[in-house]
Amino acid sequence: MKAWIAGTGSYAPARVLTNADLERMVATSDEWIRERTGICERRIAAVGEACSDLAVQAGKRALTAAGLAATDLDMILVATCTGDYPLPATACLVQHQLGATKAAACDLSAACCGFVYALSVADAYVKSGMRHVLVIGSEVMSAIIDWTDRNTCVLFGDGAGAVVVSASDGQRGILSTHLRSDGALCELIMVPGGGSRTPPSEKVLAERLQYIKMKGNETFKVAVRTLEEIARATLSANGLRVEDLDLYVPHQANVRILKAVMARLGLPIEKVVLNLDRYGNTSAASIPIALDEAVREGRIKDGSLVMLGAFGAGLTWASAIIRW
Ligand code: UT7
Repeated sequence: MKAWIAGTGSYAPARVLTNADLERMVATSDEWIRERTGICERRIAAVGEACSDLAVQAGKRALTAAGLAATDLDMILVATCTGDYPLPATACLVQHQLGATKAAACDLSAACCGFVYALSVADAYVKSGMRHVLVIGSEVMSAIIDWTDRNTCVLFGDGAGAVVVSASDGQRGILSTHLRSDGALCELIMVPGGGSRTPPSEKVLAERLQYIKMKGNETFKVAVRTLEEIARATLSANGLRVEDLDLYVPHQANVRILKAVMARLGLPIEKVVLNLDRYGNTSAASIPIALDEAVREGRIKDGSLVMLGAFGAGLTWASAIIRW
């Protein structure tokens, strides 16, 4: 028995923030952002619009695509690093909003890898008897961005993507998931203040420690190496070759990272889903948004072999391979 993806959905806030808008906020240029990242615009949540609001919209669309009601769900997992509150879990707010009265609910924190990590949890639960698990990646990165820091504020955006993972009796489904971490590199991407190490205080606010900090250049190099390594390990674990893949759906951080990974793997650009020009880096939401767009555009069909690849804070890196 396998777990398969019975439906996908996504949601992005209405407000578009362009590179031209950012030129008016920090010392940057549309040319620099496009050339160094591939990003042209990103979506930003409205004032008062929180992680669960985005997650609920994406979750509803995934349930509709799967032909299921919220009451069919056994579990809701929300992958996020920008939940509505430090406590309780955003998944519980989603559970209530959806009316998923029979579902357990909790969050999973693995930054940009959160969706793939949560997918692997859903896969394991479905294989051990659960019927339907809703997995959502949802982020309001704009809440943890320092809008005076040009090193980070041009990179991120807000959004949510969701999948329903259900039991499959056929050949289709998640073939394997692969999860890695290296906490020795935790300082490459970090929100240093606001947690138990450095609780909220006037000092935290004065030093802007509640915002995301990133050593971009060092992160870039590790990203290329680990994405290639985990893609090869995933294919090898399943006796597959790069040529067997129909589509690669990577975390959307930087088009130059992805082009370097494609070159190393020998993967043509037609087989890679790229939408970071429109959304920027939406952390845990990036893969499920890209997956949903690929399904709705007909790029993923029954029988397609699809590989996911993610990389992010922790550091963590992760992959999954799915026969659709
Ligand atoms: O999703 C989580 C994982 N995150 C990632 O994978 C991000 C990985 N890293 C990256 O995507 C890239 O490293 C960045 C896009 C963040 C930066 O690109 P880079 O080519 O590595 O640039 P850099 O950090 O080496 O900076 C080059 C120059 C610097 O100026 P100097 O020191 O050479 O004078 C920066 O100050 O670019 C400058 N710079 C900017 N200039 C204009 C940095 N940010 C900007 C900006 N606009 N927004």
